[in-house]
Order: sequence, then structure tokens, then C-alpha cells
Amino acid sequence: MEPRFQTNRLTLRLFEPSDALLVQALAGSEEVARTTLSIPHPYRVLKSENQAELGYWVGRPFWGQGYATEAAQKIVKFGFEGLRLDHIFAAAMTKNPASYKVMQKIGMKPEDNLPKQILKSGMYEDLVHYGMVKSEIIND
Ligand SMILES: CC(C)(COP(=O)(O)OP(=O)(O)OC[C@H]1O[C@@H](n2cnc3c(N)ncnc32)[C@H](O)[C@@H]1OP(=O)(O)O)[C@@H](O)C(=O)NCCC(=O)NCCS
Repeated sequence: MEPRFQTNRLTLRLFEPSDALLVQALAGSEEVARTTLSIPHPYRVLKSENQAELGYWVGRPFWGQGYATEAAQKIVKFGFEGLRLDHIFAAAMTKNPASYKVMQKIGMKPEDNLPKQILKSGMYEDLVHYGMVKSEIIND
């Protein structure tokens, strides 16, 4: 059962699709994004919600051998063809070129720069978002 709570002044419930535009406007405020970990600024609402975020890590001894690229390429193909997603995106700290190089190599394009987006080890870090749609798949 979906959690739903009532306080004196508030109803706390899960989002519904009809909340999208209001949430975009309110959560999209720079003052909200400044101190939250996963709220992007600007806050975009895609026409279709059929999207997913790609993430990856590889054990240190195995870096630089193309494994992340090879795996990401396969997963993206599964996302579009198996899960029928419309859009796949990934985020990396701008100080992590190895990660956004992987995104570029699988055909993702830059979508957003998100300055000072996450607090990591006491420092605000800049993020870059990359993304792609199905027609941008690079086949191996
Ligand atoms: C990011 C990560 C997944 C990459 O894995 P990987 O298997 O080494 O990636 P690949 O070998 O497929 O590709 C890495 C590319 O980045 C390049 N690269 C690596 N370090 C780089 C640097 N400092 N500057 C520029 N390019 C760099 C490599 O040369 C390679 O490109 P090339 O094939 O054109 O030579 C791995 O470094 C990792 O697990 N890091 C820690 C966790 C992490 O940051 N995950 C991503 C979070 S968004």
C-alpha cells in the first residue's frame, strides 16, 4: 500500500504524473537545488517519463581497458531495445574525465552542466549530464 500521511497542515504522499509541472517549478528553484544531492538545476520534465540513468564503476586494476565502455554500450542497447526506454542519461563530476569519456564513446551527448551540484567530502562538485535517444546508439 502506498504510504500517505496527514499532519496538521500537510498531506505527505508519493508524486503523481499530474504533479510534474508544479514540481518542476518548485524543485527547479536554484535555492532548492543548491543544497540537495539529486535535484538538478535547471529541473527538466521530459515529455515521456520513460527514461533511466546509467551508472558504472570498474575495479581499479581493470581501468583503461575499455571495460566500462563495452559494458555501457551493451546496457544502453538493452535499455532501448529490451526495456523500450526513450532516453538514457548519465552524470559525472567534471573532474572525472574517464567517466564522461565513456559517455561520449557510447554516443551520449552533453545535455546539462550543473555547477556545484553535489556535496562530496565537504566540497561542492560540478556535474555534467550526458544523454542519448535510441537513434544515437553506436552498434559494436
Ligand atoms: C570511470 C570508470 C568507470 C571508467 O572505466 P574504464 O573501464 O577504465 O573505462 P574505459 O576504459 O572504457 O574508457 C575510459 C576512457 O577514459 C580515458 N581516460 C581515463 N582517464 C582519463 C583522464 N584523466 N583524462 C582524460 N581521459 C581519461 C581513457 O583513456 C579511455 O578513453 P580511450 O578509450 O579513448 O583511451 C572507472 O575509472 C571507475 O570505475 N572509476 C571510479 C568510479 C566512477 O568514477 N564511476 C563513474 C561515476 S559517474
